[in-house]
Amino acid sequence: MRAFILGIAGAMAISGTALASGIGDDGCLVCHRLKGLFAVDKNNKVKDCSINEALYAHSIHRNIGCTECHNKIEQYPHKPGNAVVNCANRCHVIDPSTKKPFSHENVFKTWKESVHGKNFEKAPDIYPYCSYCHTNRLLVDVKKFETLEGSFNRCSICHENKDWTLDRLAHVASREDIPVIKNGYISQFVKTRRDGWEIVELCASCHEDEKKMEKALEIEGIHNKFAKEHVLTAVESYKVTMHSKMLYLDRSDTRAADCLDCHTNKNGNFHDIFHKEDPRSSINEKNIELTCGRATECHPLAPIKDMKKFATTKWVHMHPVPDSLGQKIVKIVEEFMFWLTTSVLLFGVVIIGLDLLKNLRRKH
Ligand code: HEC
Ligand code: HEC
Ligand code: HEC
Ligand code: HEC
Ligand code: HEC
Ligand code: HEC
Repeated sequence: MRAFILGIAGAMAISGTALASGIGDDGCLVCHRLKGLFAVDKNNKVKDCSINEALYAHSIHRNIGCTECHNKIEQYPHKPGNAVVNCANRCHVIDPSTKKPFSHENVFKTWKESVHGKNFEKAPDIYPYCSYCHTNRLLVDVKKFETLEGSFNRCSICHENKDWTLDRLAHVASREDIPVIKNGYISQFVKTRRDGWEIVELCASCHEDEKKMEKALEIEGIHNKFAKEHVLTAVESYKVTMHSKMLYLDRSDTRAADCLDCHTNKNGNFHDIFHKEDPRSSINEKNIELTCGRATECHPLAPIKDMKKFATTKWVHMHPVPDSLGQKIVKIVEEFMFWLTTSVLLFGVVIIGLDLLKNLRRKH
């Protein structure tokens, strides 16, 4: 019973061990702050159930009580299955912009309609739920960035409570690119959320996994040979492109397109990923112009009338099994260049080897 849990919390508070940080923890941390609170689940996987209070107090969900998410947990021992969390819950935090209780309903709705959400119930281990892609991550530490010091000082002119101001600034800064000073110059922008390569790795964690994707193709009812092959090689066929190579070399290069830059709409919320036949998809023929031609940012020089071709030329995913004349030619040139380079190098190695042999024999 929640009353029981709150009772323990009350007792702990009286004995002076209650939260110093003042999180609304609903009495859960009485147990969960203990280190080494491990549990073994059905599949014999060990789960660490300890919560580090200090870290929790600096995390994005710091102002939300445990039971607002874990609303099914009311008693100990917890009932199995009650750990599931519905991310569309409405919580007690008031959104200052609307003065209404906050919720992720909008994102949840987009996700539910998207290719990742619509068949989620059929195979929750294959499709990503919110918690697959998101953790309760930490806010940026404002004090670690010189460039934020100015902002902080500025806020403090008016806002007297320094802790409050630090927290609000961290909340905003966690969603912005932060300039970094190197050798006296502002030379690079750190993306505080995931950088481009992290996004590639996140998407690749499933899209590179053939077993998972083959099962998904069954569920989606995709049977066409080429369509299947395109899905199964999505990551491989991205990684040979210029976009990927730019990111690989500099993971915070904001000019290079990662998966989300193309697969979500410009003014969307990052979760509007659909099959390309769906008119809501960013890569649908209707929208591709807008996607590639996030024009002034990405391809300012490409004439608008050519944009549509980007979607059909297939240069954005270089499929290993070519299915058009253009791709076949590219493949042949690629193979040719590979063997040309290899044979030139081999030839060099053989000549040097023979020369070395000659010299060695002469000496003895
Ligand atoms: C009396 C101690 C105690 C209290 C109070 C307590 N828990 Fe737990 N909790 C545990 C223990 C021990 C485990 C490890 C496995 C188990 O027994 O279910 C656990 C496990 C969990 C899990 C993981 C369960 C799973 O199956 O993966 C969640 C989620 C959880 N607790 C949330 C909460 C929340 C939310 C509260 C407050 C409303 C809370 N707990 C209060 C002791 C407690
Ligand atoms: C914003 C929502 C949210 C809040 C607030 C929240 N949790 Fe959780 N918690 C989750 C989600 C989501 C999971 C992962 C569940 C899963 O994977 O099935 C989780 C997992 C857990 C687990 C299991 C650990 C594991 O590895 O699966 C425990 C224990 C837990 N939470 C305790 C707490 C306690 C104690 C608090 C309060 C201090 C708290 N949670 C606050 C959403 C939340
Ligand atoms: C396939 C992975 C994936 C899934 C599933 C997913 N998200 Fe996201 N979400 C992302 C990525 C990537 C971003 C971009 C920001 C970033 O880099 O973290 C994002 C951004 C967000 C943001 C903005 C965060 C910020 O700090 O600016 C919110 C809020 C959010 N997601 C909520 C949700 C909710 C709620 C769900 C479930 C209904 C969900 N997401 C499901 C990948 C995912
Ligand atoms: C010139 C004085 C001034 C400066 C500088 C200033 N603020 Fe404010 N701020 C205010 C006032 C006054 C309010 C309340 C009235 C309003 O919303 O305009 C406010 C409101 C806010 C709120 C909304 C609080 C709520 O719950 O509605 C936040 C968040 C905030 N400020 C953060 C900041 C941050 C972060 C900085 C520094 C980057 C900053 N402020 C700089 C005067 C200032
Ligand atoms: C937990 C696994 C998982 C993660 C993580 C994931 N996906 Fe998916 N994705 C799937 C499954 C399963 C399908 C359905 C199979 C299909 O439609 O081809 C799918 C479908 C898609 C499709 C539609 C493919 C088609 O057939 O038209 C696109 C596009 C896509 N995902 C992009 C992404 C992007 C971009 C990311 C990273 C932000 C991502 N996915 C992360 C599992 C995942
Ligand atoms: C430069 C833009 C761009 C980037 C970056 C990109 N994609 Fe795509 N993606 C497309 C376009 C356009 C299509 C449809 C055309 C095609 O079939 O090649 C597509 C198709 C797909 C498909 C469906 C297969 C198909 O051909 O119907 C999947 C799955 C997919 N992409 C996943 C990913 C993943 C995962 C990443 C990151 C590793 C990624 N994409 C990066 C533009 C991009």
